[in-house]
Amino acid sequence: MEDDIGQIQIYSDYVQEQMDDKRYRHTLGVVEVATDLAIIYGLDLYKARLSALFHDLAKEYPVDKKRELCKHYHIPMDDFLKDNIHLSHGLIAAKIVEDKFAIKDSNILKAINNHTLGAKNMSDLEKIIYISDIIEPSRKYSPQLNKLRILAYTDLDKAMKFALNRNIDYLTLKNKPIHPIIYSILKEY
Ligand SMILES: [Fe+2]
Ligand SMILES: [Fe+2]
Repeated sequence: MEDDIGQIQIYSDYVQEQMDDKRYRHTLGVVEVATDLAIIYGLDLYKARLSALFHDLAKEYPVDKKRELCKHYHIPMDDFLKDNIHLSHGLIAAKIVEDKFAIKDSNILKAINNHTLGAKNMSDLEKIIYISDIIEPSRKYSPQLNKLRILAYTDLDKAMKFALNRNIDYLTLKNKPIHPIIYSILKEY
């Protein structure tokens, strides 16, 4: 896919309008890390940058708007997603990107889709967006995060395993619900 600076500017402006400054800074951090990882793992830079740019597009939409958009786009919702509607923001973002900007590339759409819950058989692009989201520079430092940063730049699958386990530990600690799919994803690493 060819890099198009003018088009990227249009996309960036749109994304910036959908979120506050902090979230936009996070987004640009994800773009930065995803670009680095795409270089290291030999992936299409433009696809990595677009997936990162759009990943949290719908994150700050109010709950009602998220529900409305899930309905509008006929997004399949299991009970877990219905009860935790905020986790649908990646699914909504992928639909908006396809609808509004006619981006049909399934690699990009899947990377946006699966950045929150992960998925089985993730492509390298999906993995680098999932991981970049966690390790981008504005995330608060912790020794665990640092370990994940090092793994991300050296072994993508080990980084995925570490990220998934860290996610389970975090959600358990915070007493937050865990989508059962995470355990079957973890088995792949
Ligand atoms: Fe997100
Ligand atoms: Fe994010």
